[in-house]
Amino acid sequence: MKRRSFLVSTTAALALPLLRGTQAAPLRVNGNRLNGWLARFDAIGRTPGGINRVAYSPADLEGRTFTLDLFRVAGLDPVIDPAGNIRGRLPGTAGSLPPILIGSHVDSVTDGGNYDGPVGSFGAIEVARTLRDRNVRLRHPLEVVVWQNEEGGTIGSKLAIGALPAADLDKTARSGKTIREGIALVGGDVARLGEAVRQKGDLACYIELHIEQGGRLEQAGLQIGVVEGIVGLRWFEITVTGFANHAGTTPMDQRQDAMLAAAKFTVAINEAIRSEPGRQVATVGRVVPSPNTTNVIPGQVVLTVDLRDLAPEKLARFSARFEAIAGEIGQATGTTFRFAPLVHSEPALADPRVMGWIDGAAASLGLTRQRMPSGAGHDAQEIARIAPMGMIFVPSVGGISHSPKEFSKPEDITNGANVLLNAVLAADRGLS
Ligand code: HGY
Ligand code: MN
Ligand code: MN
Repeated sequence: MKRRSFLVSTTAALALPLLRGTQAAPLRVNGNRLNGWLARFDAIGRTPGGINRVAYSPADLEGRTFTLDLFRVAGLDPVIDPAGNIRGRLPGTAGSLPPILIGSHVDSVTDGGNYDGPVGSFGAIEVARTLRDRNVRLRHPLEVVVWQNEEGGTIGSKLAIGALPAADLDKTARSGKTIREGIALVGGDVARLGEAVRQKGDLACYIELHIEQGGRLEQAGLQIGVVEGIVGLRWFEITVTGFANHAGTTPMDQRQDAMLAAAKFTVAINEAIRSEPGRQVATVGRVVPSPNTTNVIPGQVVLTVDLRDLAPEKLARFSARFEAIAGEIGQATGTTFRFAPLVHSEPALADPRVMGWIDGAAASLGLTRQRMPSGAGHDAQEIARIAPMGMIFVPSVGGISHSPKEFSKPEDITNGANVLLNAVLAADRGLS
């Protein structure tokens, strides 16, 4: 057989399986590289209590520096926008198309875990790096974002859609800095916040990879969650005011005990939220009595309520119910309750097309999956107000999150990033 005809027939034979209409093998990320970043990141903000990369803290700034380096090595040339969000972009081949946006956050709660946020942030960077390494150019620009202060109420993503009330800039975040101070600290510019705002139509779609933070996938033995919707949440700071007095000389029937009133309120709202079927939840997570001294009847208690559900009317109804409960308890204990709204995020539904691309990506990778709601809040619910949104969940071991025991397996994280990569490719083909 002549050399030329040998080469032609060999090449054709090699290409045949791909050409015979079989699905091209899905692209895959470098899972070892991604999980290596997460392992190194664990040392930043690691304390005996857990991970403390609370927004605007020194550990958060250190974490953002680490993240900026990952952007740079991936060739994403990161910038920090006026809202303090980190952004990097790969150009598309069709100049005028709006970007596909992927990303998450890297700040943590107090005494939290290493995976809530970084899995989606670093997964997005890895997706961009894989596309670049493999010379795969999308039609759409691909933009990677790391939102600032997600845990304080999706602040960076709210600023990105122009939805943060101006008054909130002077609210104090968990690090003790105000949001205004925090924006400057992370490299933003409060005077130019308008420049960071995106409108409907500015983004092709937004896809966020995240740990589930619950136990449904693990209990069902499934690998991927295709998120259908994200709960709305309302956070309140409630000040209960009584009268501080001597713990020994004040008769029990002559007290205005703010701690007693706060305790009754905590039990009463727990009973109220469980009094009807549904997925609604309410949590009293922070209680600060004063003067917080053994032999003084507390004159004041500041507590927080975190109320969540997928239905806006339920959020409104339970908010009103909790205020009514507070009035009754105040009456009975000679105390007053003052409700101050802290955070308000609307529930958000995922876009059916984006869910389809995520589902199809998981199927092409042979991964088991289910559609499910998110009981946790995410930046995706803010971006859903201006662009088609989807989220990809990977299992949380034991369903644990916001805890030093938070853990997701490296293979699950790699699966999630592979689904993100192939969902982005599908979105690039599917969107005009
Ligand atoms: O609170 C939440 O649900 C999210 O983890 N920030
Ligand atoms: Mn998160
Ligand atoms: Mn969180």
